[in-house]
Amino acid sequence: MNRNEFIKTCGWGCFGIMTGISGLTSCAGTRYFQASLEGDYMIVPLDAFVNSKDDQSSFRPSVIAHHESLQYPIAVFRLSETEYQALWMRCTHQGTELQVFGDRLQCPAHGSEFTNTGMVQNGPADDPLRTFPVRIEANTLKIDLK
Ligand code: FES
Repeated sequence: MNRNEFIKTCGWGCFGIMTGISGLTSCAGTRYFQASLEGDYMIVPLDAFVNSKDDQSSFRPSVIAHHESLQYPIAVFRLSETEYQALWMRCTHQGTELQVFGDRLQCPAHGSEFTNTGMVQNGPADDPLRTFPVRIEANTLKIDLK
């Protein structure tokens, strides 16, 4: 069933509920962040993961870091206080830009799903996502893009 058939069958109310739910899911924990580059490193301040300035102890599970010189954004997952995972948001099936939903990445083209460590959860993609080494330095994450 395509989108138009779905709307006709279900009605605009149902469509609104579905888009509202998916919008909340995708927005609730993810922050979009314009990162800077220093040589081969993308720089993401650790503050980007803090939920609010009033509560420095509550963290987002991920941020999506953009830079205009990169073709795809990088999803950075906070696995623990000292462990972060950086993933190239390019689907390994046919190259569509992925979307973050909670602790997963999903492909809007054909439905592949990846874990927050880049492993394939559901196909048709066969290969894991490209990952980048991350190190913590002076309250920033340095993501090695080499
Ligand atoms: S391009 Fe992502 S599943 Fe096909």
